[in-house]
Amino acid sequence: MGLLIIDESRCKKDSLCVRECPMAIIKLKDGDGFPEIAPGSEAVCNDCGHCVAICPHDALDHARVPKERSPLIDKDLEITGDQAVQFLRSRRSVRFFKDQAVEREKLQRLIEIARYAPTGGNRQLVEWVVFTDRDQIKGIAEHTVTWMRKVLEKAPQSVPPYFPLIVGAWDMGYDSVTWSAPVLLLASAPREVNTGLVDLTLALSYLELAAPKFGLGTCWAGVVCGAMQGSASVREAMGLPEGHPHYYPMMLGYSKPKYVRLPERKAPKITWR
Ligand SMILES: Cc1cc2nc3c(=O)[nH]c(=O)nc-3n(C[C@H](O)[C@H](O)[C@H](O)COP(=O)(O)O)c2cc1C
Repeated sequence: MGLLIIDESRCKKDSLCVRECPMAIIKLKDGDGFPEIAPGSEAVCNDCGHCVAICPHDALDHARVPKERSPLIDKDLEITGDQAVQFLRSRRSVRFFKDQAVEREKLQRLIEIARYAPTGGNRQLVEWVVFTDRDQIKGIAEHTVTWMRKVLEKAPQSVPPYFPLIVGAWDMGYDSVTWSAPVLLLASAPREVNTGLVDLTLALSYLELAAPKFGLGTCWAGVVCGAMQGSASVREAMGLPEGHPHYYPMMLGYSKPKYVRLPERKAPKITWR
């Protein structure tokens, strides 16, 4: 069986799938027949599912992007422009978390949502490491502070101004590295994916945007990421998969703060040409 499965009783031969295919490998057989992937071109298909998404006649199925797992768009769930703007603007970095574990099913659900973020060439090779053990997360924060101390000692002029603040806070028993988050996520991608950092950043962004709908808050863990770049022991503590040069960690937990305004940002700098 080929990749495309056409229900000939439903297909209108309207060429929507032909025009939509980004790889231009779908043709109407003999010019006016039913759609098919041109012989010898199946290996080129990147499983983007645009052909499944566009057919309005329920006539096209794809062996690797099956219709039954590609639900119809529910018009009742569409949001207005104002709703979209508020949804996007109300995303916040959360640094205060309830002392409450996050259920594995919720974490699984969020990661499942994050996989719908676009990936270069639809390669979908972002991988996840999930820490839910507080001692382990504290250990990672401690390794990070140890690395910061070393950098501060060696090259105090070269470090960002927040380094001494974070180390000082740590010494007073305050964790501003991982913000005592109950969950630390690491998204990573293998070397062969040249869009790896973009792919995993988009996946984390999707996850971050979805999290509040589950009562959860997130914060990008840039300090930990810097420590991973500078310290093999932090990379090891983070369980970075072998051969994954692209990565970013993120903190997560049940949010404590409740925000009431959407803070302003700088005006965009745009060059119109
Ligand atoms: C790539 C990246 C790294 C970040 N790293 C940290 C971090 O290590 N610690 C932290 O408290 N906040 C971190 N943040 C959060 C930013 O400080 C925050 O996004 C910014 O102040 C704007 O606030 P908002 O996210 O609530 O809009 C990071 C954000 C990004 C995008």
